[in-house]
Amino acid sequence: MDVLTALLLLVHLIPVSAAKNGVSSKSRKRILPDPATEPPVTDPVYEALLYCNIPSVAERSMEGHAPHHFKLVSVHVFIRHGDRYPLYVIPKTKRPEIDCTLVANRKPYHPKLEAFVSHMSKGSGASFESPLNSLPLYPNHPLCEMGELTQTGVVQHLQNGQLLRDIYLKKHKLLPTDWSADQLYLETTGKSRTLQSGLALLYGFLPDFDWKKIYFRHQPSALFCSGSCYCPVRNQYLEKEQRRQYLLRLKNSQLEKTYGEMAKIVDVPTKQLRAANPIDSMLCHFCHNVSFPCTRNGCVDMEHFKAIKTHQIEDEKERQEKKLYLGYSLLGAHPILNQTISRMQRATEGRKEELFALYSAHDVTLSPVLSALGLSEARFPRFAARLIFELWQDREKPSEHSVRILYNGVDVTFHTSFCQDHHKRSPKPMCPLENLVRFVKRDMFVALGGSSTNYYDACHREGF
Ligand SMILES: *[C@@H]1O[C@H](CO)[C@@H](O)[C@H](O)[C@H]1NC(C)=O
Ligand SMILES: *[C@@H]1O[C@H](CO)[C@@H](O)[C@H](O)[C@H]1NC(C)=O
Repeated sequence: MDVLTALLLLVHLIPVSAAKNGVSSKSRKRILPDPATEPPVTDPVYEALLYCNIPSVAERSMEGHAPHHFKLVSVHVFIRHGDRYPLYVIPKTKRPEIDCTLVANRKPYHPKLEAFVSHMSKGSGASFESPLNSLPLYPNHPLCEMGELTQTGVVQHLQNGQLLRDIYLKKHKLLPTDWSADQLYLETTGKSRTLQSGLALLYGFLPDFDWKKIYFRHQPSALFCSGSCYCPVRNQYLEKEQRRQYLLRLKNSQLEKTYGEMAKIVDVPTKQLRAANPIDSMLCHFCHNVSFPCTRNGCVDMEHFKAIKTHQIEDEKERQEKKLYLGYSLLGAHPILNQTISRMQRATEGRKEELFALYSAHDVTLSPVLSALGLSEARFPRFAARLIFELWQDREKPSEHSVRILYNGVDVTFHTSFCQDHHKRSPKPMCPLENLVRFVKRDMFVALGGSSTNYYDACHREGF
């Protein structure tokens, strides 16, 4: 299917999936912007639909596109977990009735769904780094638990896996047919939704899912910063960023009015409602076509949803302008980017390990990495978002290695701050690995504006 057909299908879906919540027909016909690189349009409903990422259409994908004389060396995949049940409840309302068991006769469906369930249920011999061993391997509650991955979330990652398999394994032969455990590097946070998302992606990806070859490491930090998490300046940036968020919210009278109305409906103080982060729960209602909750005082409705979502879009815009989040992100994303380039450098030396790395993570993981890379126009990570680093070798000049960066299937290599103008000077449709290495080892600290040129100094800068 071509891109236009796919996008038109997406638009066509809007009135169906969001029907119950009263989406008007006005949002149906519009020229759609590039979903990864164009700045958010101000239509909050359209933005919310992209966020849901309802699996239904073959989406565009530019992964693995390279001239014939390039050989794929390694692939590094960062994912956000798939669709999940809310983390918060709206006080004094019934929580949405979503079924987190996996069944064939419910949409969305994937041909590998039953095989996935059957394989996972036989995974008791699987061994992962503690404490991952205590997590269930697939979602299985008739009424979802808080934060649980849904069937939609599983299908999203089975699809991601299948797509990557067609490109990286079938087309580019990234793994040999007799691949072994050490050719994969797998890491996840300690939530069931991230482990399960990683397993679903691998189940779609691997030609033979052999429990003996699957070993997930546990990452305690959502920033994936391993042994380098201590960084006082990063925390200072975060505090300033949170202050900015707070002040912007105060200025928005429409938002305050909305929270006031909703608080009246559920009969709690406005402050308590706001602290319960109702948009998280409302997005679940929205994405699952379940009516917003009602009480005897009235119903939460689409106008409330739009007001909060519109504010989020404005917040995102100001976040980019004020650059406090950028400071936080440069420091927050350094350790994981540093680890990634080390892994790439080992691969360029001909090591055949860790050819496929998968980090199963959260919005608060992907968002700083996107921002640090300079992808300021990238959308907030939707459910099952994927950010991919590909490492390539030029067969005609074997000492030269290049990278491509893809976000949700869109090639964003030349949108990154370390490779912005490269394609104007070079005939190669890729970025030299050295650019990325120089950026991670030094330029990302220079971008902070101080005199620091390494992580330790930048994290401990006095008088910031
Ligand atoms: C959403 O709910 C409405 C009303 O119950 C229903 O008519 C519609 O088919 C549902 N849409 C989807 C995509 O399930
Ligand atoms: C970056 O990677 C190098 C090589 O693996 C390592 O020695 C160094 O400690 C890392 N730095 C940080 C801040 O993670």
